[in-house]
Amino acid sequence: MTDYIAVENLSDEMAKDELTYLAELLNKANSAYHGIDSPIMTDAEFDFLKKRNLEIELKFPQYKKPDSPTEKIGYLPSETFSKIKHSKKMFSLANGFENNDLYDFDDQVRRFLNFRVSEPLEYTVEPKIDGLSLSLRYEKGELVFAATRGDGTTGENVTENAFMISDIPKTLPTKTDVLEVRGEVYMEHKDFENLNTYHDSLGKKVFANPRNAAAGSLRQLDATVTAERPLKFLAYAWGELTEPLDATQFGAIKKLKNLGFKTSSHTKLCKSIDEALSHYEELSKIRSELGYDIDGIVYKVDSLDLQSRLGYRSTTPRWAIAHKFPAEYSWTQLLAIDIQVGRTGALSPVARLKPVTVGGVVISNATLHNQDYIAGRDNSGKKIRSGNDIRLNDWVEVYRAGDVIPKISNVDLTKRLKDSEAYQFPSVCPECGAEVVRDDGDAVIRCIDDLNCPAQAIEKLKHFVSRKAFDIEGLGGKQIEFFFADEALSIKEPADIFTLEPRDRNNLTKLKDRHGFGRKSATNLFDAIEKKKTIEFSRLLFSLGIRHVGENVSKLLARHFLTWSKFIHIISLAQNSDSQEYFDLGAIDGIGTTVVSSLLSAFKPGKRRDRIEKLADQLNILDEILPDSNDNFLSGKTLVFTGTLEQMSRSEAKSLAENLGAKVSGSVSAKTDLVIAGSGAGSKIKKAEELGVETLDETEWLSLIGK
Ligand code: IVH
Repeated sequence: MTDYIAVENLSDEMAKDELTYLAELLNKANSAYHGIDSPIMTDAEFDFLKKRNLEIELKFPQYKKPDSPTEKIGYLPSETFSKIKHSKKMFSLANGFENNDLYDFDDQVRRFLNFRVSEPLEYTVEPKIDGLSLSLRYEKGELVFAATRGDGTTGENVTENAFMISDIPKTLPTKTDVLEVRGEVYMEHKDFENLNTYHDSLGKKVFANPRNAAAGSLRQLDATVTAERPLKFLAYAWGELTEPLDATQFGAIKKLKNLGFKTSSHTKLCKSIDEALSHYEELSKIRSELGYDIDGIVYKVDSLDLQSRLGYRSTTPRWAIAHKFPAEYSWTQLLAIDIQVGRTGALSPVARLKPVTVGGVVISNATLHNQDYIAGRDNSGKKIRSGNDIRLNDWVEVYRAGDVIPKISNVDLTKRLKDSEAYQFPSVCPECGAEVVRDDGDAVIRCIDDLNCPAQAIEKLKHFVSRKAFDIEGLGGKQIEFFFADEALSIKEPADIFTLEPRDRNNLTKLKDRHGFGRKSATNLFDAIEKKKTIEFSRLLFSLGIRHVGENVSKLLARHFLTWSKFIHIISLAQNSDSQEYFDLGAIDGIGTTVVSSLLSAFKPGKRRDRIEKLADQLNILDEILPDSNDNFLSGKTLVFTGTLEQMSRSEAKSLAENLGAKVSGSVSAKTDLVIAGSGAGSKIKKAEELGVETLDETEWLSLIGK
């Protein structure tokens, strides 16, 4: 693409000329694209020029042309954002609420690192901004793309939108190959209020809080809308880097500031956890004067070397924690109790409340958990709310702690109506009328008719198409509801998704001609479904929504069996509880009796099993591939650590081994591949010798992993 002069360096005359030129060119390109001519530029060029045109218009509004492409070109934005896989995963943060949680955090870090209490451990302490995180990738100093966090692994491509945020530098004073900067997109209180007032005056939707406003403004398919929204960006982390930023968190943030990013002026380097807690107190006091929402304070181990030793759990770093502010409370009235029936048949009571503001957010629903909770008892039968039950029309106190769904903390008995009666939990499923049961030791009441209950079927289908499951583009919750209710082209069970296109071909009225669909979206949907006919074994298993078989268990089972057909074969044999297969299933590391019985009932011959097989027949199920054994040379191996290690804590050793693909177990058995013995190791070594399992001492272990 041609080199363009940076917009801030354009003179008035140059801006005026370029706007004239761009209007003509883009309008021509648009007619060529939509008309009979063949396109005169690529989509990427078109998007680039349209963005440049808008940037000039924003800087020189006086020269905006009456035939401005911004106003006139009705080119259709794509229906969804494209996806970007993060080169380094975007993690979330563990939460702490009370001082003790933070002392525990400091303890855990020290234990992991084998640090004594007297050893200094510094923290960078900074506000936790309540917005949405964004990853910005710069190559040779140029912003090349921006992605939202998404599920941490894959985010949405919001590059065009990021270009519209003035806090985000488009070029950096460095030519380093790759620099990914991460931070929070947020909206200040005053801007949020102005935006809502403006929206209200137009009769448009108002946002519940600044975070929703920021998210809604960034995730606009038409980036010109983002341009009009006053979004801010603060940098606090990074992803892939070809050159390290610094040796410390504090230094790295300073470096980002020098590169032109906004960073929080309330960031402080603290010498100890106590100093960090004092900074938390300081920031709590000025929280309301900041002009934007923060929902806690983040503590990060300052040394980047220690950060890398500490590493990550599945979704959170071990080297950081968010110290959340206490929950906020308000009183309101309970208008109704609705019962929702979930994917596994659980009946979940939801409180419908008279809308009330809690900590700046309007709340109209709260969870009531289960029958016991409404009656004033917790899971173990102990009293909650002094044993007071919750009744219709009661005045209740609601609170929000962090991101969690609002809860009810209290009932005002003085305001209770004289004729009120205890709430009667439904004795049949409110959705299908089937019998409900409560298993021993389970607080949840479930509808037993998993084969016919429409609510369970819809929720199962929604789970089936969700992001971590089949993730079918254009087939989300709304579409599932549409197809579930649709007579002409119904989806009642997962297998129906894959017969949608042939069934549509046989229908008189085609999907493309139906309300809400067009040729493009119908074709796109069929293509997206076709694409997902090829699916990984573990993903398929997770998608089935079997109770207790979540993402991790699915992965574990897939790694154990490797192929779907072997899995099905063994599950069939394991239906006989006297069989070796039944025994072997329960002996898989990480698979307990609850999972086994849930699996066996899901795959028991009969209607449930038939549905799964009908689905599997439509699919090309990929064998599970174990992680590359070159990178993970301990891949698939089972290790046992015993005795006291001198160089690192047991947790650090375990985490290193897991990063290299190993499984770490607590006891030595015939399945153990390697025992690492620290000083004072005893019975486990003896057992290893008896079983002929290889044993290494700590030095040998360290050299094996290249430390
Ligand atoms: S650090 C690997 N620092 O909070 C660590 N996160 O609840 C990644 N957030 O997803 C996060 N302010 O969106 C970090 N100063 C801060 C933050 C911050 C806000 C957000 C971020 C993250 C979420 C976790």
